Amino acid sequence: MSDTEYPFFFTWTAQKSARPFELTGGDGAWFTTADGGRWLDLGALSYQVNAGHGNRRIIDAIKRQADDLCLASPGAVFPAKVELAEKLLALAGPGFSKVFFCLSGAEANENALKIARLVTRRLKMMSRYRSYHGASMGALTLTGDWRRPPLEPGIPGVVHVPDCYCDHCPFGQQLATCKRECATHLGEVMRLEGGGFAGVILEPVPGANGVLVPPPEYWPIVRQACDADGALLIADEVLTGFGRTGKTFGFQHWDVTPDLITCAKGLASGYQPIGAVIVHERVARHFDDQMLACGLTYYGHPTGCAAALETLKVYEDEGLYDNAARLGPVLLDELRLVARRLSGVRTFTRGLGLLAALEVDGAPAAAWARLGSELAARRLSLHLDGKRGTAIFAPPLCISEEELVAGMRSFGDAAALAFGGT
Ligand SMILES: Cc1ncc(COP(=O)(O)O)c(C=O)c1O
Repeated sequence: MSDTEYPFFFTWTAQKSARPFELTGGDGAWFTTADGGRWLDLGALSYQVNAGHGNRRIIDAIKRQADDLCLASPGAVFPAKVELAEKLLALAGPGFSKVFFCLSGAEANENALKIARLVTRRLKMMSRYRSYHGASMGALTLTGDWRRPPLEPGIPGVVHVPDCYCDHCPFGQQLATCKRECATHLGEVMRLEGGGFAGVILEPVPGANGVLVPPPEYWPIVRQACDADGALLIADEVLTGFGRTGKTFGFQHWDVTPDLITCAKGLASGYQPIGAVIVHERVARHFDDQMLACGLTYYGHPTGCAAALETLKVYEDEGLYDNAARLGPVLLDELRLVARRLSGVRTFTRGLGLLAALEVDGAPAAAWARLGSELAARRLSLHLDGKRGTAIFAPPLCISEEELVAGMRSFGDAAALAFGGT
Protein backbone atom coordinates (compact mmCIF):
# COMPACT_ATOMS: atom_id res chain seq x y z
CA MET A 1 0.00 0.00 0.00
CA SER A 2 1.19 3.51 -0.71
CA ASP A 3 0.34 6.76 1.11
CA THR A 4 1.25 8.82 -1.96
CA GLU A 5 -1.63 10.58 -3.66
CA TYR A 6 -1.13 10.24 -7.40
CA PRO A 7 -2.38 12.84 -9.91
CA PHE A 8 -4.40 10.27 -11.90
CA PHE A 9 -7.31 7.96 -11.20
CA PHE A 10 -7.08 4.29 -10.38
CA THR A 11 -9.81 2.26 -12.04
CA TRP A 12 -12.70 0.28 -10.54
CA THR A 13 -11.97 1.54 -7.03
CA ALA A 14 -12.63 4.41 -4.66
CA GLN A 15 -9.38 6.35 -4.90
CA LYS A 16 -8.65 6.05 -1.19
CA SER A 17 -8.87 2.25 -1.45
CA ALA A 18 -6.43 1.98 -4.37
CA ARG A 19 -3.43 -0.30 -3.77
CA PRO A 20 -0.86 0.81 -6.35
CA PHE A 21 2.47 -0.92 -6.85
CA GLU A 22 5.44 0.31 -8.86
CA LEU A 23 6.06 -2.08 -11.71
CA THR A 24 9.61 -2.00 -13.09
CA GLY A 25 9.77 -4.83 -15.61
CA GLY A 26 9.93 -8.58 -15.75
CA ASP A 27 11.07 -11.73 -17.42
CA GLY A 28 8.93 -14.68 -18.54
CA ALA A 29 6.40 -15.57 -15.86
CA TRP A 30 7.90 -13.07 -13.41
CA PHE A 31 7.57 -9.32 -12.91
CA THR A 32 9.53 -6.98 -10.70
CA THR A 33 8.57 -4.04 -8.48
CA ALA A 34 10.47 -0.97 -7.34
CA ASP A 35 10.83 -2.31 -3.78
CA GLY A 36 13.04 -5.09 -5.15
CA GLY A 37 10.24 -7.64 -5.33
CA ARG A 38 10.17 -10.44 -7.91
CA TRP A 39 6.63 -11.77 -8.30
CA LEU A 40 5.37 -14.92 -9.95
CA ASP A 41 2.62 -13.64 -12.24
CA LEU A 42 -0.22 -16.16 -11.98
CA GLY A 43 -2.62 -13.61 -13.49
CA ALA A 44 -0.69 -12.49 -16.59
CA LEU A 45 -1.21 -8.96 -15.17
CA SER A 46 -4.94 -9.06 -15.93
CA TYR A 47 -4.91 -11.78 -18.58
CA GLN A 48 -2.82 -9.92 -21.14
CA VAL A 49 0.83 -10.96 -21.16
CA ASN A 50 0.44 -14.43 -22.69
CA ALA A 51 3.96 -14.33 -24.21
CA GLY A 52 5.52 -13.46 -20.85
CA HIS A 53 7.27 -10.39 -19.52
CA GLY A 54 10.32 -8.74 -21.07
CA ASN A 55 10.09 -10.49 -24.43
CA ARG A 56 12.94 -9.01 -26.48
CA ARG A 57 11.54 -10.06 -29.84
CA ILE A 58 8.34 -8.09 -29.30
CA ILE A 59 10.15 -5.07 -27.86
CA ASP A 60 12.60 -5.02 -30.77
CA ALA A 61 9.78 -5.36 -33.31
CA ILE A 62 8.12 -2.27 -31.81
CA LYS A 63 11.42 -0.37 -31.96
CA ARG A 64 12.01 -1.34 -35.59
CA GLN A 65 8.47 -0.29 -36.52
CA ALA A 66 8.86 3.02 -34.65
CA ASP A 67 12.02 3.70 -36.67
CA ASP A 68 10.40 2.77 -39.98
CA LEU A 69 6.92 4.23 -39.62
CA CYS A 70 5.61 5.27 -36.22
CA LEU A 71 2.23 6.71 -37.07
CA ALA A 72 -0.31 6.34 -39.82
CA SER A 73 -3.82 7.34 -40.81
CA PRO A 74 -6.68 4.82 -40.80
CA GLY A 75 -6.60 4.64 -44.61
CA ALA A 76 -2.86 3.93 -44.78
CA VAL A 77 -1.46 0.58 -45.89
CA PHE A 78 1.89 -0.79 -44.70
CA PRO A 79 3.35 -4.30 -44.39
CA ALA A 80 2.71 -4.96 -40.67
CA LYS A 81 -0.97 -4.05 -41.03
CA VAL A 82 -1.49 -6.31 -44.04
CA GLU A 83 0.49 -9.23 -42.59
CA LEU A 84 -1.28 -8.99 -39.22
CA ALA A 85 -4.72 -9.09 -40.84
CA GLU A 86 -3.68 -12.08 -42.98
CA LYS A 87 -2.34 -13.86 -39.92
CA LEU A 88 -5.49 -13.25 -37.86
CA LEU A 89 -7.71 -14.53 -40.67
CA ALA A 90 -5.59 -17.67 -40.95
CA LEU A 91 -5.78 -18.27 -37.18
CA ALA A 92 -9.55 -17.75 -37.12
CA GLY A 93 -10.04 -20.48 -39.70
CA PRO A 94 -11.87 -20.94 -43.00
CA GLY A 95 -14.49 -18.37 -43.95
CA PHE A 96 -13.11 -15.32 -42.15
CA SER A 97 -12.24 -12.59 -44.61
CA LYS A 98 -11.80 -9.17 -42.98
CA VAL A 99 -10.31 -7.60 -39.87
CA PHE A 100 -11.41 -4.41 -38.14
CA PHE A 101 -8.63 -2.95 -35.98
CA CYS A 102 -9.01 -1.04 -32.72
CA LEU A 103 -7.14 -0.43 -29.48
CA SER A 104 -8.85 -2.39 -26.72
CA GLY A 105 -11.27 -5.15 -25.85
CA ALA A 106 -14.08 -2.69 -25.17
CA GLU A 107 -13.59 -1.11 -28.58
CA ALA A 108 -13.53 -4.52 -30.25
CA ASN A 109 -16.89 -5.37 -28.69
CA GLU A 110 -18.30 -1.90 -29.31
CA ASN A 111 -17.47 -2.25 -33.01
CA ALA A 112 -18.73 -5.83 -33.20
CA LEU A 113 -22.02 -4.59 -31.76
CA LYS A 114 -22.16 -1.83 -34.38
CA ILE A 115 -21.29 -4.23 -37.20
CA ALA A 116 -24.02 -6.66 -36.05
CA ARG A 117 -26.57 -3.86 -35.97
CA LEU A 118 -25.50 -2.44 -39.34
CA VAL A 119 -25.55 -5.81 -41.09
CA THR A 120 -28.81 -7.17 -39.65
CA ARG A 121 -30.52 -3.76 -39.46
CA ARG A 122 -31.73 -4.94 -36.07
CA LEU A 123 -31.22 -3.48 -32.62
CA LYS A 124 -31.57 -6.18 -29.98
CA MET A 125 -28.57 -7.91 -28.45
CA MET A 126 -28.25 -10.81 -26.06
CA SER A 127 -25.53 -11.57 -23.53
CA ARG A 128 -25.16 -13.24 -20.15
CA TYR A 129 -25.18 -12.05 -16.55
CA ARG A 130 -21.79 -13.39 -15.53
CA SER A 131 -19.92 -11.61 -18.27
CA TYR A 132 -17.61 -8.68 -18.84
CA HIS A 133 -17.34 -7.11 -22.27
CA GLY A 134 -15.68 -3.74 -21.56
CA ALA A 135 -16.25 -0.35 -19.97
CA SER A 136 -17.55 1.78 -22.90
CA MET A 137 -21.32 2.26 -22.82
CA GLY A 138 -22.28 -0.36 -25.42
CA ALA A 139 -19.84 -2.97 -24.13
CA LEU A 140 -20.82 -2.18 -20.56
CA THR A 141 -24.51 -2.65 -21.34
CA LEU A 142 -23.65 -6.05 -22.82
CA THR A 143 -21.71 -6.79 -19.63
CA GLY A 144 -23.78 -8.62 -17.05
CA ASP A 145 -21.60 -8.36 -13.95
CA TRP A 146 -21.25 -5.85 -11.10
CA ARG A 147 -19.59 -3.25 -13.34
CA ARG A 148 -22.82 -2.49 -15.25
CA PRO A 149 -25.35 -1.29 -12.59
CA PRO A 150 -23.51 1.94 -11.59
CA LEU A 151 -23.90 3.22 -15.18
CA GLU A 152 -27.43 2.09 -15.95
CA PRO A 153 -29.45 2.69 -18.03
CA GLY A 154 -27.16 1.75 -20.89
CA ILE A 155 -27.93 1.43 -24.57
CA PRO A 156 -31.41 0.15 -25.48
CA GLY A 157 -32.24 -3.37 -26.59
CA VAL A 158 -29.92 -5.58 -24.53
CA VAL A 159 -31.32 -8.75 -22.90
CA HIS A 160 -29.29 -10.82 -20.42
CA VAL A 161 -29.73 -14.55 -19.82
CA PRO A 162 -28.41 -16.93 -17.11
CA ASP A 163 -25.03 -18.57 -17.34
CA CYS A 164 -23.48 -21.97 -17.95
CA TYR A 165 -22.56 -22.14 -14.28
CA CYS A 166 -22.51 -25.89 -13.74
CA ASP A 167 -21.30 -25.78 -10.12
CA HIS A 168 -24.37 -23.68 -9.22
CA CYS A 169 -26.69 -24.46 -12.12
CA PRO A 170 -29.25 -21.67 -12.47
CA PHE A 171 -31.74 -24.37 -13.52
CA GLY A 172 -31.07 -26.56 -10.47
CA GLN A 173 -29.57 -29.36 -12.59
CA GLN A 174 -26.57 -31.64 -12.27
CA LEU A 175 -24.15 -31.78 -15.22
CA ALA A 176 -24.54 -35.56 -15.67
CA THR A 177 -28.30 -35.43 -16.10
CA CYS A 178 -29.05 -31.89 -17.28
CA LYS A 179 -30.57 -31.19 -20.68
CA ARG A 180 -28.27 -28.21 -21.27
CA GLU A 181 -31.04 -25.87 -20.17
CA CYS A 182 -28.52 -22.97 -19.98
CA ALA A 183 -28.14 -23.18 -23.76
CA THR A 184 -31.73 -24.04 -24.75
CA HIS A 185 -33.06 -21.31 -22.44
CA LEU A 186 -31.12 -18.73 -24.47
CA GLY A 187 -33.08 -19.69 -27.59
CA GLU A 188 -36.31 -19.76 -25.59
CA VAL A 189 -35.70 -16.20 -24.34
CA MET A 190 -35.01 -15.10 -27.91
CA ARG A 191 -38.40 -16.43 -28.96
CA LEU A 192 -40.20 -15.00 -25.91
CA GLU A 193 -38.67 -11.60 -26.68
CA GLY A 194 -40.18 -11.80 -30.14
CA GLY A 195 -36.97 -12.69 -31.97
CA GLY A 196 -35.24 -10.26 -34.30
CA PHE A 197 -31.91 -10.12 -32.49
CA ALA A 198 -28.90 -8.50 -34.13
CA GLY A 199 -26.46 -10.63 -32.18
CA VAL A 200 -25.54 -12.75 -29.22
CA ILE A 201 -22.18 -12.06 -27.57
CA LEU A 202 -20.54 -14.66 -25.33
CA GLU A 203 -17.14 -15.29 -23.84
CA PRO A 204 -16.25 -18.87 -24.85
CA VAL A 205 -15.27 -19.41 -21.22
CA PRO A 206 -16.43 -16.52 -19.01
CA GLY A 207 -13.12 -15.59 -17.41
CA ALA A 208 -13.12 -12.87 -14.77
CA ASN A 209 -16.57 -14.02 -13.67
CA GLY A 210 -15.29 -17.36 -12.45
CA VAL A 211 -14.03 -19.50 -15.38
CA LEU A 212 -17.40 -21.04 -16.24
CA VAL A 213 -16.42 -23.80 -18.66
CA PRO A 214 -19.53 -24.68 -20.68
CA PRO A 215 -20.67 -28.24 -21.42
CA PRO A 216 -19.57 -29.31 -24.94
CA GLU A 217 -23.06 -28.93 -26.41
CA TYR A 218 -23.46 -25.33 -25.22
CA TRP A 219 -21.93 -23.46 -28.15
CA PRO A 220 -23.48 -25.66 -30.87
CA ILE A 221 -26.95 -25.18 -29.31
CA VAL A 222 -26.43 -21.43 -29.12
CA ARG A 223 -25.23 -21.39 -32.73
CA GLN A 224 -28.47 -23.12 -33.78
CA ALA A 225 -30.55 -20.60 -31.82
CA CYS A 226 -28.75 -17.72 -33.53
CA ASP A 227 -29.27 -19.27 -36.95
CA ALA A 228 -32.97 -19.84 -36.24
CA ASP A 229 -33.38 -16.16 -35.40
CA GLY A 230 -30.96 -14.72 -37.96
CA ALA A 231 -28.80 -13.27 -35.16
CA LEU A 232 -25.02 -13.05 -35.45
CA LEU A 233 -22.92 -14.98 -32.97
CA ILE A 234 -20.03 -12.98 -31.51
CA ALA A 235 -17.24 -14.76 -29.64
CA ASP A 236 -15.63 -12.36 -27.18
CA GLU A 237 -12.11 -13.77 -27.17
CA VAL A 238 -10.55 -10.75 -25.46
CA LEU A 239 -9.52 -12.89 -22.49
CA THR A 240 -9.61 -16.38 -23.98
CA GLY A 241 -7.92 -15.55 -27.29
CA PHE A 242 -4.38 -16.56 -28.26
CA GLY A 243 -3.90 -19.77 -26.35
CA ARG A 244 -5.31 -19.00 -22.95
CA THR A 245 -7.56 -22.08 -22.97
CA GLY A 246 -5.07 -24.29 -24.86
CA LYS A 247 -6.37 -23.47 -28.36
CA THR A 248 -5.75 -20.34 -30.39
CA PHE A 249 -9.33 -19.23 -29.76
CA GLY A 250 -11.67 -20.59 -27.10
CA PHE A 251 -14.53 -21.31 -29.52
CA GLN A 252 -12.24 -23.78 -31.31
CA HIS A 253 -12.89 -26.30 -28.52
CA TRP A 254 -16.32 -26.86 -30.03
CA ASP A 255 -17.56 -27.47 -33.52
CA VAL A 256 -18.88 -23.95 -34.17
CA THR A 257 -17.97 -20.96 -36.26
CA PRO A 258 -18.94 -17.55 -34.88
CA ASP A 259 -19.75 -14.66 -37.22
CA LEU A 260 -17.48 -12.23 -35.41
CA ILE A 261 -14.49 -12.76 -33.13
CA THR A 262 -13.33 -9.96 -30.86
CA CYS A 263 -9.85 -9.90 -29.38
CA ALA A 264 -7.31 -7.65 -27.62
CA LYS A 265 -5.16 -8.41 -24.50
CA GLY A 266 -3.12 -11.41 -25.73
CA LEU A 267 -3.14 -10.12 -29.32
CA ALA A 268 0.03 -8.15 -28.58
CA SER A 269 0.52 -9.60 -25.10
CA GLY A 270 -0.08 -6.12 -23.73
CA TYR A 271 3.11 -4.74 -25.30
CA GLN A 272 1.00 -2.27 -27.31
CA PRO A 273 -2.69 -1.38 -27.05
CA ILE A 274 -4.37 -3.16 -29.92
CA GLY A 275 -7.61 -5.06 -30.47
CA ALA A 276 -9.45 -6.47 -33.46
CA VAL A 277 -12.75 -7.77 -34.74
CA ILE A 278 -12.28 -10.72 -37.09
CA VAL A 279 -15.24 -10.88 -39.44
CA HIS A 280 -16.67 -13.84 -41.33
CA GLU A 281 -17.10 -13.44 -45.05
CA ARG A 282 -20.90 -13.76 -44.88
CA VAL A 283 -20.92 -10.62 -42.69
CA ALA A 284 -18.03 -8.76 -44.30
CA ARG A 285 -19.67 -8.94 -47.75
CA HIS A 286 -22.37 -6.53 -46.57
CA PHE A 287 -19.85 -3.70 -46.51
CA ASP A 288 -18.74 -4.17 -50.09
CA ASP A 289 -21.46 -1.72 -51.09
CA GLN A 290 -22.60 -0.28 -47.77
CA MET A 291 -20.66 2.21 -45.68
CA LEU A 292 -18.87 0.74 -42.67
CA ALA A 293 -19.95 3.37 -40.14
CA CYS A 294 -17.07 2.69 -37.74
CA GLY A 295 -13.63 4.26 -37.36
CA LEU A 296 -10.79 5.37 -35.12
CA THR A 297 -7.84 7.72 -35.65
CA TYR A 298 -5.44 5.04 -34.41
CA TYR A 299 -7.01 2.27 -36.53
CA GLY A 300 -4.30 -0.26 -37.39
CA HIS A 301 -1.62 1.73 -35.59
CA PRO A 302 1.85 0.78 -36.88
CA THR A 303 3.52 -0.07 -33.55
CA GLY A 304 0.41 -1.97 -32.44
CA CYS A 305 0.37 -4.03 -35.63
CA ALA A 306 4.11 -4.73 -35.43
CA ALA A 307 3.84 -5.79 -31.78
CA ALA A 308 0.87 -8.06 -32.49
CA LEU A 309 2.49 -9.63 -35.54
CA GLU A 310 5.65 -10.47 -33.63
CA THR A 311 3.63 -11.71 -30.63
CA LEU A 312 1.74 -14.15 -32.83
CA LYS A 313 5.04 -15.41 -34.24
CA VAL A 314 6.41 -15.83 -30.69
CA TYR A 315 3.36 -17.90 -29.72
CA GLU A 316 4.01 -20.23 -32.64
CA ASP A 317 7.81 -20.37 -32.46
CA GLU A 318 7.79 -21.05 -28.71
CA GLY A 319 4.88 -23.51 -28.90
CA LEU A 320 2.91 -21.51 -26.33
CA TYR A 321 -0.57 -22.71 -27.36
CA ASP A 322 0.66 -26.28 -26.86
CA ASN A 323 2.27 -25.36 -23.56
CA ALA A 324 -1.07 -24.01 -22.34
CA ALA A 325 -2.83 -27.19 -23.44
CA ARG A 326 -0.19 -29.37 -21.80
CA LEU A 327 -0.08 -27.44 -18.52
CA GLY A 328 -3.86 -27.01 -18.20
CA PRO A 329 -4.36 -30.42 -16.53
CA VAL A 330 -1.33 -29.76 -14.28
CA LEU A 331 -2.89 -26.48 -13.12
CA LEU A 332 -6.24 -28.15 -12.47
CA ASP A 333 -4.65 -31.06 -10.59
CA GLU A 334 -2.70 -28.64 -8.42
CA LEU A 335 -5.85 -26.62 -7.76
CA ARG A 336 -7.69 -29.76 -6.69
CA LEU A 337 -4.83 -30.52 -4.29
CA VAL A 338 -5.22 -27.02 -2.84
CA ALA A 339 -8.98 -27.51 -2.51
CA ARG A 340 -8.43 -30.77 -0.62
CA ARG A 341 -6.23 -28.95 1.89
CA LEU A 342 -9.00 -26.49 2.78
CA SER A 343 -11.03 -28.31 5.39
CA GLY A 344 -13.14 -25.45 6.74
CA VAL A 345 -14.78 -24.23 3.52
CA ARG A 346 -16.70 -25.63 0.53
CA THR A 347 -14.70 -25.32 -2.68
CA PHE A 348 -15.18 -25.75 -6.44
CA THR A 349 -12.42 -25.95 -9.03
CA ARG A 350 -12.80 -25.29 -12.75
CA GLY A 351 -10.45 -24.74 -15.64
CA LEU A 352 -9.53 -25.07 -19.29
CA GLY A 353 -5.94 -24.63 -20.46
CA LEU A 354 -4.08 -22.05 -18.41
CA LEU A 355 -7.28 -20.48 -17.12
CA ALA A 356 -8.64 -21.86 -13.86
CA ALA A 357 -10.64 -20.82 -10.82
CA LEU A 358 -10.91 -21.81 -7.21
CA GLU A 359 -14.31 -20.88 -5.82
CA VAL A 360 -14.61 -20.76 -2.05
CA ASP A 361 -18.11 -20.75 -0.58
CA GLY A 362 -18.91 -18.76 2.48
CA ALA A 363 -15.47 -17.51 3.53
CA PRO A 364 -15.66 -14.15 5.35
CA ALA A 365 -14.10 -11.00 3.87
CA ALA A 366 -11.38 -11.20 6.53
CA ALA A 367 -10.24 -14.59 5.17
CA TRP A 368 -9.93 -13.14 1.67
CA ALA A 369 -8.01 -10.16 3.05
CA ARG A 370 -5.67 -12.59 4.82
CA LEU A 371 -5.24 -14.54 1.58
CA GLY A 372 -4.29 -11.28 -0.16
CA SER A 373 -1.60 -10.49 2.38
CA GLU A 374 -0.30 -14.07 2.46
CA LEU A 375 0.04 -14.00 -1.35
CA ALA A 376 1.79 -10.61 -1.18
CA ALA A 377 4.23 -11.99 1.38
CA ARG A 378 4.99 -14.87 -1.02
CA ARG A 379 5.21 -12.52 -4.03
CA LEU A 380 2.42 -14.33 -5.85
CA SER A 381 0.21 -12.26 -8.13
CA LEU A 382 -3.24 -13.44 -9.22
CA HIS A 383 -6.79 -12.22 -9.54
CA LEU A 384 -8.67 -12.42 -6.22
CA ASP A 385 -12.32 -11.52 -5.90
CA GLY A 386 -13.33 -12.03 -2.30
CA LYS A 387 -16.77 -10.48 -2.78
CA ARG A 388 -17.65 -13.14 -5.32
CA GLY A 389 -15.51 -15.81 -3.69
CA THR A 390 -13.06 -16.64 -6.48
CA ALA A 391 -9.35 -16.81 -7.09
CA ILE A 392 -8.52 -16.92 -10.81
CA PHE A 393 -5.32 -18.32 -12.26
CA ALA A 394 -4.09 -17.26 -15.70
CA PRO A 395 -0.29 -17.33 -15.85
CA PRO A 396 1.71 -16.29 -18.91
CA LEU A 397 1.64 -19.20 -21.37
CA CYS A 398 5.45 -19.45 -21.24
CA ILE A 399 5.39 -20.55 -17.58
CA SER A 400 7.29 -23.78 -16.97
CA GLU A 401 5.77 -26.78 -15.21
CA GLU A 402 8.22 -26.31 -12.31
CA GLU A 403 7.26 -22.65 -11.89
CA LEU A 404 3.57 -23.48 -12.08
CA VAL A 405 3.70 -26.32 -9.56
CA ALA A 406 5.87 -24.35 -7.12
CA GLY A 407 3.55 -21.35 -7.42
CA MET A 408 0.43 -23.44 -6.85
CA ARG A 409 1.94 -25.19 -3.82
CA SER A 410 2.85 -21.80 -2.38
CA PHE A 411 -0.69 -20.61 -3.12
CA GLY A 412 -1.97 -23.69 -1.25
CA ASP A 413 0.07 -22.73 1.84
CA ALA A 414 -1.36 -19.21 1.73
CA ALA A 415 -4.92 -20.47 1.22
CA ALA A 416 -4.63 -22.98 4.09
CA LEU A 417 -3.57 -20.17 6.43
CA ALA A 418 -6.32 -17.84 5.20
CA PHE A 419 -9.28 -20.23 4.99
CA GLY A 420 -8.21 -22.87 7.50
CA GLY A 421 -6.72 -26.23 6.57
CA THR A 422 -3.52 -28.18 6.45
C1 LIG B 1 -13.89 -10.96 -21.97
C2 LIG B 1 -13.49 -9.52 -21.97
N1 LIG B 1 -14.00 -8.71 -22.91
C3 LIG B 1 -13.66 -7.41 -22.96
C4 LIG B 1 -12.80 -6.86 -22.05
C5 LIG B 1 -12.45 -5.41 -22.13
O1 LIG B 1 -11.14 -5.23 -22.56
P1 LIG B 1 -10.39 -3.83 -22.37
O2 LIG B 1 -10.12 -3.68 -20.92
O3 LIG B 1 -9.15 -3.97 -23.20
O4 LIG B 1 -11.30 -2.77 -22.89
C6 LIG B 1 -12.23 -7.68 -21.06
C7 LIG B 1 -11.30 -7.11 -20.07
O5 LIG B 1 -11.01 -7.66 -19.05
C8 LIG B 1 -12.60 -9.04 -21.02
O6 LIG B 1 -12.10 -9.87 -20.07
